[in-house]
Amino acid sequence: MILPIVSYGDPVLRSKTKEIPEDFPGLSDLIDSMWETMYKANGVGLAAPQISKSLRLFLVDTMSTYEDEEGSGIKKAFINPEILSETGDKWGFEEGCLSIPKIREEVIRKEIVRIKYFDEHFKEFEETYDGMNARVIQHEYDHIEGILFTDHLKPLKKRLLRSKLDAISKGKIEIDYKMKFPK
Ligand code: NI
Repeated sequence: MILPIVSYGDPVLRSKTKEIPEDFPGLSDLIDSMWETMYKANGVGLAAPQISKSLRLFLVDTMSTYEDEEGSGIKKAFINPEILSETGDKWGFEEGCLSIPKIREEVIRKEIVRIKYFDEHFKEFEETYDGMNARVIQHEYDHIEGILFTDHLKPLKKRLLRSKLDAISKGKIEIDYKMKFPK
């Protein structure tokens, strides 16, 4: 089922997310719906708060971003994840977000991330990622911590974006996927 993606300005994007118990009802249906919603919007990641669920869950599919690059993409659901460390050099990349359509800005992040999480079968993993995999994981992990990529921008850049962000929160934007606006 395709779910509406909540836009910038919705309080759910800033809420404190809850851990998911193993017997959480409808978890596999929820994950299926999130994949469907993410692909419909051409996203490479989607976090539960973006579909109005204040839960510690996000999806990442970086397969397409590695087509012409070295390394290999991942397609995974991350449940109750915990970033254990972020290391390596800092690097910048123009990020976007399905909740903040049509804005892309350079965000500086560390290269390598070590993360502990459960998959959709509640098997526990501890893994290290770099490159675009790490970048997308960091962006989605931010979502479940109530952080948006625009929070990482310098104050001047943020000020320049304010009216655009305000327009998005009011739904004054053309998009080709289903969204929900707070105002
Ligand atoms: Ni995002």
